[in-house]
Amino acid sequence: MKKKVFGTTADGRKGYLFTIGNNRGLEVSVTDYGASIVSIIVLDRNEKPTDVVLGYDSLEEYLRGDSYFGATVGRNCNRIEGAAFSMDGRTYKLEDNNFGNNLHSGSHGVSFRFWNLKACTDNSLTLELEDKDLEQGFPGNAKIEVSFTVTEDNALVIDYRAVADQKTVFNFTNHAYFNLNGEGSGTAMGHLLSLRASHYTPFKGFGGIPTGELAEVAGTVFDFREPKAIGKDLGAGDEQLGFTGGYDHNFVIDKASDGVETAAVVYGQESGIRMTVSTDCPGIQLYSANFSGSKTGKGGKEYHGRDAFCLETQYFPNAVNEPGFATPVTEAGEIYRSRTIYKFDK
Ligand code: GAL
Repeated sequence: MKKKVFGTTADGRKGYLFTIGNNRGLEVSVTDYGASIVSIIVLDRNEKPTDVVLGYDSLEEYLRGDSYFGATVGRNCNRIEGAAFSMDGRTYKLEDNNFGNNLHSGSHGVSFRFWNLKACTDNSLTLELEDKDLEQGFPGNAKIEVSFTVTEDNALVIDYRAVADQKTVFNFTNHAYFNLNGEGSGTAMGHLLSLRASHYTPFKGFGGIPTGELAEVAGTVFDFREPKAIGKDLGAGDEQLGFTGGYDHNFVIDKASDGVETAAVVYGQESGIRMTVSTDCPGIQLYSANFSGSKTGKGGKEYHGRDAFCLETQYFPNAVNEPGFATPVTEAGEIYRSRTIYKFDK
């Protein structure tokens, strides 16, 4: 593993950038701030090294960033309605940071914290973080770990592990913004996406809270069971897409087991790079990077909305308040584990 200083905070704390790789040209850099993926370099069909995630060049830009570029997100990723939930007769109040709801655990979420390096090899690193009882509003003192491993079959494997001394919520994801034609190469909406999902969780309205229903994708803009350009139906006038200005929806993975299974395959036609996403999670959020305006990213490149897509593996949004959804609750002392794999080929 290579390590370098990535920047310094206003109060003098250094942030680091760690780089791991394999013998096939796959190289992944991660900063300890937010356990965020800063770059994923993959060889394209012409063997050209191509960075397939949006990001920034320095810690200072991550400290100012508002889009969770590559961040580890938790204790609970996605939304919790009313920024509150009840468990065993007690109500837990979270930060309202998204139109009355909690998004990605708020400003004390793990995306905005420095993690400690616990272990590393040439192709893997593990970061750890202690999150105190009620620090983000969730019960229990928690020990959280995330590992990034680059394998010889050209995959980035992300493993989450967490344990708390009280019953709590654990639901981690990574928020990488992918563009398989290379970050900064323009719109990502031409990427061909297939999702192994016959159902998705529609929203009640603006705000992105599911109704609780598992709706069929058949005959809707949410049908990605056969490869389709991500942006193909964005202009179709669909009411659900109107709520969020594009895709920002959770799909129900057609899982046959509790283990790691393929959830999505995406193909960048210009680079020839294909990415397969596998996970043990029940859901995957397709976010078509619906931000407005532009952001200046790596190498001074301008990123616009829709220049990337996110595929965030997760428990369903608001699952802690929705009895019909698989529960993100972990018992005191129980070990939460979850794995997501991004595999690249061409
Ligand atoms: C997504 C979320 C979006 C947006 C984004 C961060 O996971 O669903 O609505 O907030 O994170 O910019």
